[in-house]
Amino acid sequence: MKNFWQKLHKPIYALAPMAGITDSAFRQVCKSFGVDVVYSEMISATAIVYDSKKTLELMKFDKKERPYVVQLFGSNPEHFAFATKYITKNIKPDGIDINFGCPAKKVSKQGAGAILMDNLELARLIVEAVINNTNLPVSVKVRSQVGQTTVLDFLKYLADLDIKAVMIHGRTVNQGHSGLVDYEIIKKARKYFKGIILANGGVKSVFDANNLLKKTKADGIGIGQGALGKPWIFKEVKSQKSVKSKVSREEIFKIILKHAKLVNKLKRDQGIIEMRKHLCWYIAGMDGAKDLREKLVKVKNLSEIKEILIVK
Ligand SMILES: Cc1cc2nc3c(=O)[nH]c(=O)nc-3n(C[C@H](O)[C@H](O)[C@H](O)COP(=O)(O)O)c2cc1C
Repeated sequence: MKNFWQKLHKPIYALAPMAGITDSAFRQVCKSFGVDVVYSEMISATAIVYDSKKTLELMKFDKKERPYVVQLFGSNPEHFAFATKYITKNIKPDGIDINFGCPAKKVSKQGAGAILMDNLELARLIVEAVINNTNLPVSVKVRSQVGQTTVLDFLKYLADLDIKAVMIHGRTVNQGHSGLVDYEIIKKARKYFKGIILANGGVKSVFDANNLLKKTKADGIGIGQGALGKPWIFKEVKSQKSVKSKVSREEIFKIILKHAKLVNKLKRDQGIIEMRKHLCWYIAGMDGAKDLREKLVKVKNLSEIKEILIVK
């Protein structure tokens, strides 16, 4: 088995998976700023069983993105087994991750995501189903606590399984995606897990990144919302230069255009419409942001973005 996790230089900086956001275009933009590992948006194991075209599209990637990890969610071990085999044979990513952290109602209604952390027996069957059906390294993404189960209980229960990496979002399921991050519990996880530990939660700057690494003693970190409208955060954290390297308006426009061209190539006009949220994140805080936003939320194609940004 090729375990890419062991080959990465530490600290490892990962783009945390975000549904509706971390598509191939955005992952490629983050990669151009040096991110070490990227995850897909969460992919339904069940949808792969039913051959959903949309889901198969979601997993596509460019080899520039490697190492690339596909993240699966679901609640049926047999579906995970099938999806894992399919992905290993046909998609050929560098790793497969299992989502034990999503709090969204439409996911937990199916018994999937974070709720599974509090169902240790089923969680175990799912991890086994994935590990037994691939030669790729398997990782999990978890929260600090769900119901009665802490990340420490979870890792202890699965300690004999060959899990190569874990990303720990240091917030409980009730906290959602904001609020204080529990550094201490991530640090304690080392006692129960021998593989790569990535700490996750609340990183918006070089200071935050260093603080999270220092307080958790993790092997690396995952950055989610801190990369929205600011994919160059990966260059900042890797080079440890944030204050002096302020990105100019012109540079941001260039990055937007590069991102939009990738989206246009991969998803055409529909992708540009989906990209409107990224456009708003990119321009937040700029002079004239309000006027720009009013125009950008209505764009329907690449030419309209070019016109608004007046890129010749
Ligand atoms: C819009 C959005 C979508 C997300 N989708 C996923 C997902 O598909 N899989 C997953 O494991 N976590 C998902 N997350 C959680 C993030 O990966 C990350 O754990 C969380 O945002 C905390 O990190 P941050 O404070 O750096 O954003 C999502 C978060 C957000 C805000």
